Amino acid sequence: MALDTTAHRITAEWLDTWMHVRSLTATEVDGWPLVHVGSRTRETELVCVDPGVAAFRDLLPSLAGNPRGMLTVLAEDVGHYRIAPLPPGVRVDRDDETLMTTVLQDGPLPPLEDDFTFRWDVDGNVVTYTVECGDAVAAGGTVGVLGSVATFDAVETTPRFQRRGLGRHVMAVLTGQAMGRGAERGVLAASAPGRALYRSLGWDPTLEMLSLMGTD
Ligand SMILES: CC(C)(COP(=O)(O)OP(=O)(O)OC[C@H]1O[C@@H](n2cnc3c(N)ncnc32)[C@H](O)[C@@H]1OP(=O)(O)O)[C@@H](O)C(=O)NCCC(=O)NCCS
Repeated sequence: MALDTTAHRITAEWLDTWMHVRSLTATEVDGWPLVHVGSRTRETELVCVDPGVAAFRDLLPSLAGNPRGMLTVLAEDVGHYRIAPLPPGVRVDRDDETLMTTVLQDGPLPPLEDDFTFRWDVDGNVVTYTVECGDAVAAGGTVGVLGSVATFDAVETTPRFQRRGLGRHVMAVLTGQAMGRGAERGVLAASAPGRALYRSLGWDPTLEMLSLMGTD
């Protein structure tokens, strides 16, 4: 089915590039990738694409009681997963994320105001760009390129500097860096505020995301 093919391909591109950016590895559970995230928020994340409610419910016991385990479902519509009964020891962590895609385009770089400075951290095909105001970090983000795909990670503007064009500036800088490294398409997992930023830059919402976690 066309949706399946596209959804699986885009999810695989996002996962491969995101794992590359963060130097992560994955094993498999029931044929789905279990990413060893090892971050502050979670140890593992099992990622599945529209598996069907029955298969989704079969995966939940592996999560129950594990507060460091996450299960993320991506689908055109995650509504039927959102309303499926959950076993004890499993909770919805977030249902506001969206996998977004775009064809990357080089555009004009929105200038920085005079009170900001910037710095780079480059590690091969992974670039982190940070905007500072004096000693304070004002905004920043990371882009990683794998083949022709770029993913953007940890794009953030400190609350007191938001809505001054820094998010747009950071994305323009990182997009230029990604295209310079051969990227043609972008894919990322967007939070709700991130989605508004990326929409304003022409990105398309492609798949809804639902993340569950175990509880103690
Ligand atoms: C998302 C985020 C990075 C945006 O940064 P920002 O510096 O405020 O973004 P900009 O000022 O460049 O905004 C550019 C455009 O994006 C849209 N936009 C950005 N934040 C928005 C919001 N909270 N609500 C609605 N639209 C928003 C607007 O169209 C805005 O243009 P406008 O201000 O002229 O209307 C910032 O809100 C943030 O760090 N949020 C918390 C962390 C996060 O969710 N990061 C995204 C991870 S995917």
